[in-house]
Amino acid sequence: MEILLAKSAGFCFGVKRAVKLANENASDNTYAYGELVHNKDVVQELAAKGVKQYNKNIRNKKIIIRSHGVHKNILKDLINDENEIIDCVCPKVKYVYTIVEKYKEDRQIIIIGKKDHPEVIGINSYCDDKGIIIENLDDIKNIEIKPSIIVSQTTNEQNFFKNVTNIIKAILKDDVLVYNTICSATKVRQDEVKNLAKEVDAMIVLGGVNSSNTKKLAIVAKEYLDNVYLVENIHQVDLDELKKFNKIGITAGASTPDSVIKEAVSSMENFDNNEMMEAIENSFKRV
Ligand code: F3S
Repeated sequence: MEILLAKSAGFCFGVKRAVKLANENASDNTYAYGELVHNKDVVQELAAKGVKQYNKNIRNKKIIIRSHGVHKNILKDLINDENEIIDCVCPKVKYVYTIVEKYKEDRQIIIIGKKDHPEVIGINSYCDDKGIIIENLDDIKNIEIKPSIIVSQTTNEQNFFKNVTNIIKAILKDDVLVYNTICSATKVRQDEVKNLAKEVDAMIVLGGVNSSNTKKLAIVAKEYLDNVYLVENIHQVDLDELKKFNKIGITAGASTPDSVIKEAVSSMENFDNNEMMEAIENSFKRV
């Protein structure tokens, strides 16, 4: 069996930065507003250093703001409560804030992304919650015919963004500025998974269940392959089932630690050895 690992698999620049900053500030006096990144291992590591989950009425503490951001009113309240903000919001997400803020008075703001995703809620707050959020084609009916701008959730799927943008441009007769704010880290991973999916018989996509960019990787792989396993770690895959494949690809979302990727690769590389050991063990049992 051949294992092909996507080069870009694992932590992106924004997650690396957030994890470093959060760890530097982790203590018994530190609280995390939501999950820093969508990965259990990272969250548990911080908890082991004393970091607790934020709940109401926390004052005079350090508060870690997750990489995908929060509504700006939440940030205001945390500051009013005299907390020290450990700002782990990815600079690329903040860049989208600046775009919607710049145009909010003059243009209709259209945000392509998931309505209930914290990143989208955060972006929308910087245009005073007036953005039209397009999660599916049906939402396009909510758009008014007037000068507009389009931005995207940073982890969106490229094809979906392009398709929606083309439809909106046709409706608005081109009086629309398009900012493709899908992060380059997302794009590189999606392009790579597409190429890898064409080469392999099955693909394992490693990442947190709530990780939007991980789910998008699985969607892209599914366009080319039937056998796509979206899992948090290699223990969730039935290794016996994988034996039928000759070539297996492995990729991982932007918030998946290297340790999870290494573990997956080594379990698969040891596959033949494991199989041999199992056979030896079984033969002993039979004697
Ligand atoms: Fe930032 Fe892009 Fe990662 S937006 S958190 S660098 S996926």
